[in-house]
Amino acid sequence: MFAAYASTTDADRPLDALVLGDRPDPEPADGWTTVTVRAASLNHHDLWSLRGVGLDASRLPMILGTDAAGVDTDGNDVVVHSVVSDPEWRGDETLDPKRSLLSERHPGTLAEQVAVPRRNLVPKPSALSFEDAACVPTAWLTAYRMLFTRARVVPGQTVLVQGAGGGVATALITLGAAAGARMWVTSRDPAKAERTTALGAERVFASGERLPERVDAVMETVGAATWKHSLRSVRPGGTVVTCGATSGHGAETELNRVFFLQLQIVGSTMGTRDELERLLAFLERTGIRPVVDRTVALRDVREGLSAMEQGDVFGKVVVTL
Ligand SMILES: NC(=O)c1ccc[n+]([C@@H]2O[C@H](COP(=O)([O-])OP(=O)(O)OC[C@H]3O[C@@H](n4cnc5c(N)ncnc54)[C@H](OP(=O)(O)O)[C@@H]3O)[C@@H](O)[C@H]2O)c1
Repeated sequence: MFAAYASTTDADRPLDALVLGDRPDPEPADGWTTVTVRAASLNHHDLWSLRGVGLDASRLPMILGTDAAGVDTDGNDVVVHSVVSDPEWRGDETLDPKRSLLSERHPGTLAEQVAVPRRNLVPKPSALSFEDAACVPTAWLTAYRMLFTRARVVPGQTVLVQGAGGGVATALITLGAAAGARMWVTSRDPAKAERTTALGAERVFASGERLPERVDAVMETVGAATWKHSLRSVRPGGTVVTCGATSGHGAETELNRVFFLQLQIVGSTMGTRDELERLLAFLERTGIRPVVDRTVALRDVREGLSAMEQGDVFGKVVVTL
C-alpha cells in the first residue's frame, strides 16, 4: 500500500528523511483491526518523528501520522483514537506509562490502511466530513483536554492562547470561545492574529505584548519563546497548561513567581477515548468545525509538512486518500 514514512531521521532537515512509496499492508494483531483511511491530518508530531524525536532508529522505517478517519472492516465510518495503551491498562489511557501514539511504535495513519486496536475506534458522526473528523484525534483532542480537563475552564473566564496559527492553537481558540470563555491570543504575525477573531478570539496581541489584565489560564504550545510571558500573564492562583514546545524546551521556570503567586503549571498530553467521543459530540451539537489551512493528496504530503515546518499554516493540513 502507498504510505508516507520515515526511512531515517534528520534532526536538521526533517523532510530529507521523508519517503513516499509502498509499505506492506497491515497485519492486525489479536484485538486489532484495519481501517481504510479516507482522510488524515498532519501534526507537528510528524516533523518531530522525522527529526528523530520520540522515534529511534530501531523502529525505522516508520509510517507517519497520528490522525485518521476512515471505514472499518464492517463498513462503519470511524475516527481513530491514536493513543495505544497496554491491553492490561484500565482507566485514563494517557496516563499509561506504556502508551504510545500511532507512528511511534506502531505504523501511523499516513497510508491507505492503518491497523489499530478495536477499542480505539470511535463512531464518526455523520454531520462531520472525513476531512473534518481527521483533524480531531490529536490537535483538537489535545486542546479539549487542556481547556476542560486540565485547566477546568468555565464560561466567562479569560484564557490566553500563545500562538495563533497552529493546529492546537486554532482548536483552543474555537473550542474555548464556543464554551463561553473570553479568548485572548498572541501571535508573531498580525495577519494570523487578526484571522483568529473569526474563530471567536476577543482580543489579539503581538507575541510578548503586555496584557491589559491578567488571565485565568494560559494555553502553552510554543515553549521557550513565550514561557516567560505566560508566567507573567496569569493571575495569582491561575493555571498555565503546557502540551508542547515548538520553539524549544529550554525555558526558565521562575520558581519565585510560581510559589509567590501560587500558580499551577500543568502538563497535558492528547486525551482519552471518552474525551474524544465528547469532543465529537460537542462539534456535532455546536456546529463548530476544525480550521483547515489546506488539503493535499497523500502523494503531495511533503508540501504540507514543509508549510508546517516554516510556520506557514493557519489551522490544520488535511491529507486525503
Ligand atoms: N502533548 C501532546 O499531546 C501534543 C499534542 C499536539 C501537539 N503537541 C505539541 O504542540 C505544539 C503545537 O503543535 P501544532 O500541531 O499546533 O503545530 P505547530 O505548527 O507547531 O504550531 C505552531 C504554533 O506555535 C506558534 N509559534 C511557533 N514558533 C513560535 C515562536 N518562536 N514564537 C511564538 N510563537 C511561535 C505559532 O504561532 P504564530 O505563527 O501565530 O506565531 C503556532 O500557533 C507542537 O510542539 C506539538 O508537538 C503536543
